[in-house]
Amino acid sequence: MQAYQLVGTYSRFFDRMMTNADLPARLALKFFWGLNEAAHQKFLAQAFAGIPENFSGRILEVPVGTGVLSLPVYKNIDGAEIFCVDYSDKMLDAARARAEQMNLRGIKFIQGDVGNLPFENNFFDLVLSINGFHVFPDKNSAWEETYRVLRRGGIFCGCMYVKGENARTDFFAEKFCDRQGFFCPPHETLSTLQRTLEKKYSRVEVSHVESFAGFICSK
Ligand SMILES: C[S@@+](CC[C@H](N)C(=O)[O-])C[C@H]1O[C@@H](n2cnc3c(N)ncnc32)[C@H](O)[C@@H]1O
Repeated sequence: MQAYQLVGTYSRFFDRMMTNADLPARLALKFFWGLNEAAHQKFLAQAFAGIPENFSGRILEVPVGTGVLSLPVYKNIDGAEIFCVDYSDKMLDAARARAEQMNLRGIKFIQGDVGNLPFENNFFDLVLSINGFHVFPDKNSAWEETYRVLRRGGIFCGCMYVKGENARTDFFAEKFCDRQGFFCPPHETLSTLQRTLEKKYSRVEVSHVESFAGFICSK
């Protein structure tokens, strides 16, 4: 988890890559992740597809990272109370600064561990996790905790890396991301992810764009 303290400190490259913002980012996304511009747009749409239109209620986002993907989405959600959790205070500092810059008031940024969330049972109407589950070290606790804090009938959605969809991405994930501590194995495949979610949730939809699986589940 220390790896993201560094990413948070030098968050500009991370943000450019996540948003496909310039040529180096586009080359890296295409080469390592198999995402061209159109696929990157699909990846973004898939990541947020679980948030219903005109959603109101309580949202937990974990991990928020620098907020580069989700804060622009929150700009268009009026009636929600939003709690953003991340383990890294440096990533959170970048997210807070971004929210301030975007004039997004009222979002609560909380330093915490997905495996031990500081919320009571059934507190949220929607739990969103973008690019988190391939990073979390204790995945069982993360599945349990995100389930525990979601109310019955609530939505659990987001996206994560899965192995088995693109050989080059898998090589890069194993030889670089896992070794440098950016990711934490073991990684799900599309079918193990579907099974993991179906053990807990009543309605499960899993999709994918290259190596990124999107999921939308009801509790
Ligand atoms: C790949 S980044 C994703 C951030 C953001 N959702 C995005 O897609 O831009 C992974 C994030 O997970 C956070 N993280 C790692 N382990 C965590 C844990 N146990 N609890 C909460 N956040 C954690 C890291 O600090 C980092 O910000």
